[in-house]
Amino acid sequence: MLLSIILGFFLLLALVLLFLISSEFVAFLRTRVPFVPTHAGDIEFIVRKLGLSKKDVFYDLGSGNGKVVFLVEKLSGASATGFELGWWTILFAKAKAKLTNSRAQFKNQNFFNSDWSGANIIYCYLYPPLMGRIEEKFKKELRPGSLAIVRDFPFPNMAYSEKYYLPKDHEIYVYKI
Ligand SMILES: C[S@@+](CC[C@H](N)C(=O)[O-])C[C@H]1O[C@@H](n2cnc3c(N)ncnc32)[C@H](O)[C@@H]1O
Repeated sequence: MLLSIILGFFLLLALVLLFLISSEFVAFLRTRVPFVPTHAGDIEFIVRKLGLSKKDVFYDLGSGNGKVVFLVEKLSGASATGFELGWWTILFAKAKAKLTNSRAQFKNQNFFNSDWSGANIIYCYLYPPLMGRIEEKFKKELRPGSLAIVRDFPFPNMAYSEKYYLPKDHEIYVYKI
């Protein structure tokens, strides 16, 4: 009896792990960008340095498990939204938002097919081949005075207005239109 309970537990654990790994792999095939979270200290730096506040509307393009969105909301009071194609990561973020009474929103959408015009700040930690399309959409859809905060991989054509070196060998580029 005890043996079958233990075996059942490990079988369930294996199935959960298989689901997580395969859903992450499918998301990777769709986006070509793996889920790698931004360090919490980097998010704190961004909120402080750029003076994010409750007046801001912040979109994280490719929000993973929602870490950036939750921290930005907590530290600045900004209205924060994440767009994400990965299944378990968006499920996790949505569940956390419910459990913590967060006002953060999470949309299981391809951010290239989403409307960004509601935001005045976009954040992305993505991959060089995507940055040209993001730059174009940023310039087209956001209002004058809006910011793009880009981690590690700069826009290919637009000049940044500020660049900061973060702890642990990362950089952010800030663009203003
Ligand atoms: C490097 S992770 C960054 C996660 C989060 N922004 C952070 O900094 O902690 C990039 C995420 O973007 C997601 N992603 C990439 N392309 C996407 C797209 N077109 N639409 C929605 N999500 C996308 C990936 O699934 C991945 O979870």
